[in-house]
Parts: sequence; structure tokens; C-alpha cells
Amino acid sequence: MGTLDSDNLRDRPIGVFDSGLGGLTVVGELASLVPGEDIVYLGDSARVPYGIKSLDTVRRFAMEDAAFLLRFSPKLIVVACNTASSAGVEPLRRRCGVKVVDVIRPGALAAVELTDGAIGVIGTEATIASGAYRRAIREIDPQREVYSQACPLLVPIVEEGREPSDPIVLHVLTDYLSRLQRRRCGALILGCTHYPLLAGAIGKLMGPDIPLVNSGQAAAKLIGQKLADEGISNPRPSGGYLHCYTTDNPQRFARLAERFGGRAADHVEYVGTDELESQPQLTNETR
Ligand code: DGL
Repeated sequence: MGTLDSDNLRDRPIGVFDSGLGGLTVVGELASLVPGEDIVYLGDSARVPYGIKSLDTVRRFAMEDAAFLLRFSPKLIVVACNTASSAGVEPLRRRCGVKVVDVIRPGALAAVELTDGAIGVIGTEATIASGAYRRAIREIDPQREVYSQACPLLVPIVEEGREPSDPIVLHVLTDYLSRLQRRRCGALILGCTHYPLLAGAIGKLMGPDIPLVNSGQAAAKLIGQKLADEGISNPRPSGGYLHCYTTDNPQRFARLAERFGGRAADHVEYVGTDELESQPQLTNETR
């Protein structure tokens, strides 16, 4: 028998936020690992991309995104966005009053477990500049070589729906990956929500000996484990709902959601950034 607390948490949704549609790749991983969980997703499409903004701005957005999700009394909040995760989730952890899972540490851990060699990381400009993956890897293994490469063109390329076999995609990828290819990495972290959609092309260019680490997938595995360990998994074997909120055009969001998340959203609703900005702020260390 569970405790009152765990009984109470089981039926609650998981809250997930991202700068836009990309975080639905993490939702897709959750949906296949823990299909009974309900998910409330916020995609901040009006303010995407986060990846070219300052970390201070991204932290402010992340705080507003998390505050919005708290309205749904989630059992935990997932920061699906690598850039928001890189900006630091400790303030969120202190202020949200529920567990907060980011994608950086799970991705770093998965990569360190996969190889003894150097680790490559690709991500947005802000993610790479933050050094968050390097720090997370070095916390696990202080001696580890880490080679990072910002790939700012990949997010718009994926958003535009370009196929991985498109010559433009291959040209851009070849340019970004050439430095990492020379470094002979033992694994490559896909440190951005959008990159799993290009995994086929990235894998081909890096070669069969270099496993790709999907940080969203690593985070989803950790979440499944955490829910089970704490006895707060939804007992339903499947059929969890996916309710999405977006700060921009809900029709476009609904149309593209399936490409990113592998499943259609059950409900898509607009929420304005003015509403996010005017919420009571999470200013206290504990709510
Ligand atoms: N979701 C972002 C990330 O994973 C990519 C899109 C953006 O730049 O906002 O870093």
C-alpha cells in the first residue's frame, strides 16, 4: 500500500516545458516508456528560439514556464529544453515545490556510461556557451575530454521540416561535424531537443562506431525509474493524455506536434506570454 502522499501523486500529470515544439521529442520518449502518464506540455513558441538568447533571459522564461505548469499540480516538472536546462535548474528546484528533472545530467551520464573516450556535444549557441554539458560530464569523470560544437542552423532547419537526406541539411551537418570527426569522440551527445530528428544523418556522418546519445531519451528513462522507485507511477498501463499549451499559433502547433512527438496532442490551447509574465512569480525559496 502506498503512503497518502504517493497515492495522491500517482494520478497527477507530468508537466513538461520547452521553448517550442522541440520538447515534444522528450514527450515522445516519455509516451513510449511510461504510456499511462498524463502530460501537460507548455511550448513557448512565441519566444522561441531560446538558444540564441542570454542565459538570464532564458532563466526568466523558464521560471515563468514552470510557474504556469504548477497550475496543473504536476507530480514533477521536466525541463525538456536543453538551453533552459543549461541555464541552470537549481532556482527552479528550490522554488517549484515539486521535483524538477532537466536533460543535461541524464545525457552526460548516459554518454559517460557508453564510452571511456572523449565525448562530443552539439547544441544551441547558448547551451554550448554555458558549458553545462562539460561541467556535468566532468562532475562524473573529472579527466574526461569534452569537445563541443554549437550548431545554430539546425533548429530552423528542423522546424522547416527539411528531410535528413536534403543536400542542404547534409551540407550544414558536414560543416558542423567535421571538427568533431577529427577529434575521434567515443560518443556524441545530441544536446538539443531538435537533433533526434536528424539522428539518421548525424549518425551516418559520424560513422557506426560513434553512438549518439539522446538526452531526452536518457531523461525519460530516469523519470520512469524515479516514478517507479517513489511509487508514484500512474497505475494505468497506457492511454495517458497529452494536453498542450502554446504561446503562439495553436493550429500550427497542433499540425506539427506529431512530427516531433510521434503522437498527436489530445488538446492544444493558446496561452499568451502576457499571461505568463503577469503570473505571481516564484520568488520564495519554498512555495
Ligand atoms: N529547445 C531548444 C534546446 O533544446 C532548441 C530550440 C531553441 O533554441 O529554443 O536547446
